[in-house]
Amino acid sequence: MRRRLAALMLLIAPSAAIADNNDAGISFRTQVQPILDAQCVFCHVTGAENGGLNLGRRVARASLLAASSEAPMPRVTPGSAAQSYLIHKLRGTQLSAGGSGNRMPMNDPPRPLDDGQLTLIQRWIEAGAPDN
Ligand code: HEC
Repeated sequence: MRRRLAALMLLIAPSAAIADNNDAGISFRTQVQPILDAQCVFCHVTGAENGGLNLGRRVARASLLAASSEAPMPRVTPGSAAQSYLIHKLRGTQLSAGGSGNRMPMNDPPRPLDDGQLTLIQRWIEAGAPDN
């Protein structure tokens, strides 16, 4: 029994180490998507793709990596937050980035994402926008 457990630990340990080194530890599925689910999906979902953007599960990452419908840069450029229109929309700098429209999430009164959420999304982009 004890030997079996040791063998199991050997199997698990290396993959855990790889996961830790990967992508600065940010997970799109468990850390970024929950923010989108809570703050964005009701306006960016199949049938209500405001700005042509769909943030529903399974399609969100692909839709984020596509060209912007408002600005001369992709919504997300893996590795570059400055070249990611998403970040400009979330920080309210969309006009200086050559885009248009409102700061996101669009709410009345405005309720911007907090610094922790913004930093997380930015770190995901800078880690290469992994599909994880
Ligand atoms: C109340 C509805 C609403 C909510 C909530 C909302 N959006 Fe939007 N979004 C829109 C509308 C409408 C547009 C197009 C007009 C504009 O840009 O102001 C848009 C446009 C965008 C664009 C530009 C799309 C493009 O092609 O460049 C991005 C990026 C975006 N939203 C991201 C988000 C994110 C991320 C969230 C959540 C944090 C969010 N939105 C929440 C309504 C919403």
